[in-house]
Amino acid sequence: MKRILPLLATAALMAGCGAPSGKDYSPAGEPFSLSSPDGELTATFYLTESGTPVYTLSRGDVAVMDPGVLGFELRGTVKYQGLEYEGSTPLKPDELPPYLFNDSFELLGCETDSFDEVWEPVWGEEATIRNNYNELTVKLSHKGDGKLMNIRFRLFDDGLGFRYEFPGDQPLVHFVIKEELTEFNCAQDNVAWWIPGDFDSQEYEYAETLLSEIPSVFKSRTNQYNSSTTLFSTSGVQTSLQMKTPEGLYVNIHEAALVEYPCMHLLGDGKRLRSFLTPDAEGWKGRLETPCVTPWRTIEVTPTAERMLASRVVLNLNDPCALDDVSWIHPVKYMGVWWEMIAGAGSWNYTDVPSVHLDTFDYDAATPNGRHSGNNANVRKYIDFAAENGFDALLIEGWNVGWEEWANCNKDYVFDFVTPYPDFDIDALNAYAHAKGIKLVMHHETSSSVRNYERHMEAAYSLMNKYGYDAVKSGYVGDIQPLGEHHYGQHMVNHYLYAVTEAARHHIMVNAHEAVRPTGLCRTYPNLIGNESARGTEYQAFGGTQPEHTTILQFTRLNGGPMDFTPGIFEQNLKEWCGNDSHVNATIANQLSLYVTMYSPLQMAADTPDHYAPFMDAFQFIKDVAADWDGTRYIAAEPGDYVVIARHPKTSTLSGSAKAFCGSGKDVWFLGGTTDEQAREMEVSLDFLSEGKTYEAVIYADAEDAHYLTNPQAYTITRQAVTSADSLTIKMAPGGGVAVSFKEI
Ligand code: NOJ
Ligand code: CA
Repeated sequence: MKRILPLLATAALMAGCGAPSGKDYSPAGEPFSLSSPDGELTATFYLTESGTPVYTLSRGDVAVMDPGVLGFELRGTVKYQGLEYEGSTPLKPDELPPYLFNDSFELLGCETDSFDEVWEPVWGEEATIRNNYNELTVKLSHKGDGKLMNIRFRLFDDGLGFRYEFPGDQPLVHFVIKEELTEFNCAQDNVAWWIPGDFDSQEYEYAETLLSEIPSVFKSRTNQYNSSTTLFSTSGVQTSLQMKTPEGLYVNIHEAALVEYPCMHLLGDGKRLRSFLTPDAEGWKGRLETPCVTPWRTIEVTPTAERMLASRVVLNLNDPCALDDVSWIHPVKYMGVWWEMIAGAGSWNYTDVPSVHLDTFDYDAATPNGRHSGNNANVRKYIDFAAENGFDALLIEGWNVGWEEWANCNKDYVFDFVTPYPDFDIDALNAYAHAKGIKLVMHHETSSSVRNYERHMEAAYSLMNKYGYDAVKSGYVGDIQPLGEHHYGQHMVNHYLYAVTEAARHHIMVNAHEAVRPTGLCRTYPNLIGNESARGTEYQAFGGTQPEHTTILQFTRLNGGPMDFTPGIFEQNLKEWCGNDSHVNATIANQLSLYVTMYSPLQMAADTPDHYAPFMDAFQFIKDVAADWDGTRYIAAEPGDYVVIARHPKTSTLSGSAKAFCGSGKDVWFLGGTTDEQAREMEVSLDFLSEGKTYEAVIYADAEDAHYLTNPQAYTITRQAVTSADSLTIKMAPGGGVAVSFKEI
């Protein structure tokens, strides 16, 4: 940026239109204007007569965000002033009422900057990412008390980021947020893909409605079966919130670099939204100490859905990598002793007693329940299969003592994370796996007993180091202990990052389930290789998930970082093998497509060896596909309908069977197409292939009569020679998809 322009015409416009009733959004003086590097986006900032900070955002002539207030409501004073023993004065409650920190500001000054760099992610969807923005920082002083707050805006070609910054050496030192009052006043009643606002769960299917319709359909979208859930309003939704304007713009609200602060939800009032932070156990919403900054609030705006998927605003707003040595971080393709427990064929627990005192319970004397999946023989079977098929790793859940009371017990000392069950010989299994080129993936279900996990963490990570486990899947099922805290509050946000930074000290990669939704922190801490933090494949065994889910997650959950979605279910009829009434709503070709359309450097083949055995020709795609890319092309996408993506493997990080397929020196591409419940046929140009080369395309497609409900295992595998001048007709069945490998011949 280069320029800050007085915008008298815009000021007049803003005074007159779009302003929510009851508030005066008129600028007191000349607004500042900030342009994106390509000039398409414009953000403005100004103070009103009463000193309220306000911003707007537009693309060309189209208003995206009408004037929206920025700021906070803060707690009046430190809650308890002290305890007097000699006198009889009890603890003192708040002496001052909370006060608004979104008006009575005066402008001390402003700074502008512009930035353009290209950086290399440790892993990702491309080898390099451009970080190019114009910046405006406004410096504000609160009249009367002289408290200081700056607001920094960064405008990219595909979106705006802004955050609050509180300088040091000022009257504001320790402070408590009652609420952040950032407004996102959408200019139109946009279509939105949303899940209910919840302080403890993100495991929902998305609704597609107008913003104004959210309250009327809210109840029908809730899921009371989650292990921990705290809804707060029928107008509350989560980010990343994907929207589409009547003009056809794609707009997405999320946050970046969530550190030392509660996670933001959005509270709606028709087309107007505002921040609604996750409270702590006392109901306050953030305890800060200057100097400090908030996470970035992001509003991505693109003219097409494909460009929305290509946007890297969230990653770019995170700090560069904080780790000096990243040589130990690598993509992981893994299998797991997992789905059989989720589906109900086996158990995590070894015995069926109602109570276990970990320090005294004698597991050797206990009666095994005969269903424990994490046993030596079964684990060996999975190791054999994973090794034969060129995987990197195997997850085993239920390997450690304590699972008898893992759910719904609110127990503090529920696990020690180091003691195996009697039928899990960690020495022998680890040696067996390593001899076959397989690493074991550690599992730390915490049951949300956070203090317990932190006090065992050093020993738990050290055990992993001893045995050469370099990745851990952690989990936070149930209500957070200490009770009253929430999964997405500041307390837990701090915990999740503590686990990641402690893991980095031990050269351990982390994949946290039920943790707060990602906000791009994997740029700074690339050992955070995955999160669940949304409704994953497991729900196909908990009643099922509609096919459109995997055409929406790319626009929402994946905006902040990769998801351990755990695709690859080939046996959809759970009743047949484990008596579970749930049906997996996806065809086999759909499951294959997800390895391309649902980006993650950590990719699981989630079904059991027995279920893959009859379909090894289709399984070949899972073996061949890479998990780390140096180039990506978003070919076609529409949230809730379809996503078609082509990717080029990063050869330097290939391993196992993917290396065998992609690492021979011949050029390779992969394509995935995922559809919702509608069958689709599309013509896809192959212009992403290198010119002048001929490739063999292996096309894993739904058969003509495939259908996710009635005929999910019907697929065809065909081969044809293609060049970049060709196009390919892809056909996807209802709930289906297509997966294609292209290898130079
Ligand atoms: C929920 C996780 O999402 C799932 O993957 C895991 O198996 C269970 N918790 C047990 O930890
Ligand atoms: Ca989960």
